[in-house]
Amino acid sequence: MELEKDKLDVQLGTELNPKGLFIEVTENGPYVLHGTTKIIQQFIVANSQGISVAYKEGKQFQSDKETYLCRCGLSKNKPYCDNSHLKAKENGVDLTETASFKPEFTTVEIIEGPIVSLSDDEKLCAFARFCDNGKRIWNEVKETDHQSVELSVGMAHRCPSGRLIVWDGGTPIEDKDVEPTVGLIEDMPNQCSGPIALWGGIPVKSSNGNYFEVRNRQTLCRCGQSSNKPFCDGTHSSMEFQDGLDTEPAENARIF
Ligand code: FES
Repeated sequence: MELEKDKLDVQLGTELNPKGLFIEVTENGPYVLHGTTKIIQQFIVANSQGISVAYKEGKQFQSDKETYLCRCGLSKNKPYCDNSHLKAKENGVDLTETASFKPEFTTVEIIEGPIVSLSDDEKLCAFARFCDNGKRIWNEVKETDHQSVELSVGMAHRCPSGRLIVWDGGTPIEDKDVEPTVGLIEDMPNQCSGPIALWGGIPVKSSNGNYFEVRNRQTLCRCGQSSNKPFCDGTHSSMEFQDGLDTEPAENARIF
């Protein structure tokens, strides 16, 4: 069935998301996480061919009723803010928000397959590379067998930015049981740190008071250099952003 962009609802959220949990972007300042939830390092794990296949959990951090998280990349106390943003401009960091409030589906590309479809919003790419398990998701969704569908859905679900969504007709195939979590992405294969990953439909409020479209998977820039703030655009990879936190997953780390 052909997807009709204007009829798609991507404001999925999740029933597990407690009321009052959201991220506020402050003007030229940090993110404020309102409400308590898990804040945890999430290390990208690659297989022997360098293909991203899973995440391993690392160190967990405390959240309070209001938790101030660094978004300029300069804090010496990451993931928390230490007021370094006050010197952001002189350090070449412009924290101005530039992302559009238009629904994602005004700009996505749709790839139609015989069983499922794929929507691709390239501007959201956080360069986590789960979209290519040896066969790229754009090709996998064009196959006629159910194993390919499962592989496509798995790749999309690990895409932290929500760039990729697999659809069954007009319904997104999303995991509704994802625990709302603030992930600190650590890109082990690329030896750099990545964005803040919001899993489970955590709303994001702009410094102008408006909310962005709620999506199950979103990535917020924490290196200070994205051109699509507050969202990540993958620049952390080329600038080799380092958050200075633990560089190894926890022992007996949960893998997902
Ligand atoms: S963290 Fe990805 S561009 Fe800043």
